[in-house]
Amino acid sequence: MIETLTRLDDLRTRVASWKREGLRVGFVPTMGNLHAGHFSLVELARRLAQRVVVSVFVNPTQFGPGEDFDRYPRTPEADAAGLAAAGADAVWMPALDTMYPHGASAAVQVRVPGITGVLEGEHRPGHFDGVATVVARLLNQVQPDVAVFGRKDYQQLAVIRYLVRDLAMPVRIEAGATLREADGLAMSSRNQYLTPDQRPVAAEIHRTLAWMRQATQAGTPTADVEADARRQLHDAGFDVDYAVLRTPQLEVPGDAAGPRVALIAARLGATRLIDNLEFDVQSAQAVPGPRRAGAGP
Ligand code: PAF
Repeated sequence: MIETLTRLDDLRTRVASWKREGLRVGFVPTMGNLHAGHFSLVELARRLAQRVVVSVFVNPTQFGPGEDFDRYPRTPEADAAGLAAAGADAVWMPALDTMYPHGASAAVQVRVPGITGVLEGEHRPGHFDGVATVVARLLNQVQPDVAVFGRKDYQQLAVIRYLVRDLAMPVRIEAGATLREADGLAMSSRNQYLTPDQRPVAAEIHRTLAWMRQATQAGTPTADVEADARRQLHDAGFDVDYAVLRTPQLEVPGDAAGPRVALIAARLGATRLIDNLEFDVQSAQAVPGPRRAGAGP
């Protein structure tokens, strides 16, 4: 039986009683409209803890002007039913004034420096201030032993790890794998904005990420991989915010072998999609690699 909690006192009482029994508490923060990707994070939390709380809160402070806050899909009943089936113990659904008692615009803010200035931070100014602010509040409200975030939001995960380490928050952060549709499209609540014509095209993001991995591993220089990836996406009909190769710390990679992540953010019509792919480069040797047919000169 899943319990839906909307009052902070009730959440605190429930979590404290579990902890008194010696049970580890896992936590999965979400904005609702849950799909299999979220449920896989719940399953991971269940493996790491004996009790699992999932929050459902569409956080206004992480949406910029003109973004999709108003139309973001809200499906609380279906979310609670899905979470019960996935084995969560409680769903935390705070009202806006429970999350921001002084109002969202008068809220104490948490700002993570450095890593928030690039990629998503550059294209969505203020986004990570909203994410860091709400995640700090959620962790403080739930006080879990372990919290699980998805790898699809690669930069968000890095921001949260930094936040938790820097504020010495007593919580372990774990990452869950990205779940994909059969054609490779990363599962996301925003996929439902896609029209029937756009939906098959959206899988081009994952195909391009896979091509970036293959080209990089074949020794193609980073700048060429990035330029070709942008061109492929543009030719498929995307407005590209970025298509880049980075180190795991989101720095521009040098020639040395080591771990890499390819990251893409691109818009199909009004729908902005992000995805990434982590891989290793074994050899520092730069050997020109084959280009995919039709990928440009
Ligand atoms: O990844 C999300 O769904 C959100 O950014 C999060 C972490 C729940 C904060 O609102």
